[in-house]
Order: sequence, then C-alpha cells, then structure tokens
Amino acid sequence: MTDERERWALILGGSSGMGQATAIALAKAGYNICGIHLDFRAARAHVEQVKAEIGAAGSEALYINMNAADDEKRAAALATLRERFDRSEAERRHPYVRVVMHSLAFGSLVPFLSDDPKSAVDRKKMEMTQDVMANSLVYWVQDLLRGGFLEGGSKIFAMTSEGSSRVVPSYGVVSSAKAALESHIRQLAMELAQTGVGITANTIRAGVTMTPALMKIPEHDMIIASATKRNPTGRMTTPQDVANVILALSGEGTDFINGEIIGVDGGEFITGS
Ligand SMILES: NC(=O)c1ccc[n+]([C@@H]2O[C@H](COP(=O)([O-])OP(=O)(O)OC[C@H]3O[C@@H](n4cnc5c(N)ncnc54)[C@H](O)[C@@H]3O)[C@@H](O)[C@H]2O)c1
Repeated sequence: MTDERERWALILGGSSGMGQATAIALAKAGYNICGIHLDFRAARAHVEQVKAEIGAAGSEALYINMNAADDEKRAAALATLRERFDRSEAERRHPYVRVVMHSLAFGSLVPFLSDDPKSAVDRKKMEMTQDVMANSLVYWVQDLLRGGFLEGGSKIFAMTSEGSSRVVPSYGVVSSAKAALESHIRQLAMELAQTGVGITANTIRAGVTMTPALMKIPEHDMIIASATKRNPTGRMTTPQDVANVILALSGEGTDFINGEIIGVDGGEFITGS
C-alpha cells in the first residue's frame, strides 16, 4: 500500500542519543523531521550537525530549541509546524505527523532519603521530572490530535527503561516517571483505538545505551558493567538499534500493535539482574 501523504516525524528530544538516531533514520526513509530539544552553548553546534545530516538525506529539519514541558512553547511550536504544513498544502501536498517519539531525558537523579534536604528529592524535583519525562507526552498528543496533525497510520512511541521496575539509588524519581510514562501510553493506546482513526501508541524499552543521559546517572559505571555482562549479545544497545526498530514499526502492517512495551535490548531484560 502506498502512502501519498507527506510524512513528518515529531521527535521530542531529537538532538541527541536515541532521538537523534531515529530522526536521521526516518529522514533517510523520506520523513521530514520536526525536532524539539533543549540545548545550550556548545551543544548547539551539535544540533547544527544533526540538522545537516537530515538535510543531506534530502529531508527537512525543523528544529526548535525549547522546554518540551512548557505549555505556551508547545503551542507556539505547533503553530510553527501548522504554518509549515500550510505551505505544503498550498503546493498540493498533504502532510501529516506519522511518527511521534517521546525521547526526553531530563530528570533529578537524587535519592528520596538524605540527611541533607538539598541532596534528596523535593516537590519541585519530583514534579519537574514527572512533567518532562512522563506527563508532557499526554499534552503533546492531545494538541496533535486536536490540531489535526495525526491521521490514520500515525504511530506514537515513548522511551522507557528497565529502571521503571527496578531500583537504583539515584534513579527513584526517574523510575517513577518511567512507570507513569508506560501507564500514559496504555491509556492513550486505548483511547486512540476507540477514536477509530487508526493511531497507535507503544512504549519502547531500550537496553542500557551509551548516551549523554546515561553518563549523567551517578551509578553509570556499575550500570554499564552490568549491562555488558548480562546482555547475551555481548554488547550494549546502541541508539541505532532503537532507530532501526522505530523505523520498522513505523512501516506498513504494524497497525494492530498497540499499548505494548517492546524491548529493544538484544535480550538484556530477560537475563535478569
Ligand atoms: N540511555 C539509556 O541507557 C536509556 C535506556 C532506556 C531508555 N532511555 C530513555 O530514552 C530517552 C532518550 O534518552 P537518551 O539516552 O537518548 O538521552 P540524551 O541525553 O542523548 O537525549 C535527550 C534529549 O532530550 C532533550 N531534552 C531534554 N530535556 C528536554 C526538555 N525539557 N525539553 C526539550 N528537550 C529536552 C535533549 O535536548 C536531547 O535531545 C529518555 O527518555 C531515556 O530515559 C535511555
């Protein structure tokens, strides 16, 4: 079945790690990319490289540097995307957002309990982490649906980790956000299916992957050593592994996969700890 429509991917966290690899893989497959990211100073040069790679693949890179959890900025970003879609419509093309990927890594890596309150989680840290890493997904999908960006065949992916159901001393806040994110995807999957439009939502549970987000976890050396030892393939997951799977799941014939948690880890999860 051919899709005559103009395919776009909205990648939340499209400047690094899994979001970056997926943006480039989808661009090579003909998608235009709207990348939302939060980068400062030196990291901005890296964003220009990512955009150049998307452009070299013959696709458009509409990148917006903003906090994805900010309601007003989300509205402004979608207005920018709407203007871009209007230009395509004026040229008799029909754009739609086929792939939404939530790949935001921005959380407090602190324990719940500490003698020093500054070293432990507090309301602000808890709510900020939940908002960026979990709840923002719901608000983006609401606005994308109301704005007519999603159509039959659109697919939503959110990134979780084994840490949603395991404990690591500094990962408790992020772990709770991952558990919420998995729940949000189940709820969206059910409600989207009931609309009858043909939009699906699934969670990708990546294995431990070398990215800037992993290196910020204080226990990263232990996590990397454990993943390398446990992974039956003898290597860690790469951003490209994740990108390959999202590209495949975004293709035809996957419309009845809905509300699942799909492991992309070479079998790391099933070996246990
Ligand atoms: N690296 C791993 O081992 C691993 C394993 C499983 C799941 N994950 C999950 O995959 C996702 C991507 O992680 P990664 O390792 O590729 O991270 P990364 O640090 O390489 O990339 C994070 C991206 O999020 C963007 N970002 C962060 N906060 C933002 C905000 N408030 N608003 C807009 N953009 C923001 C950054 O600009 C960047 O593009 C995360 O949800 C992470 O928890 C990571």
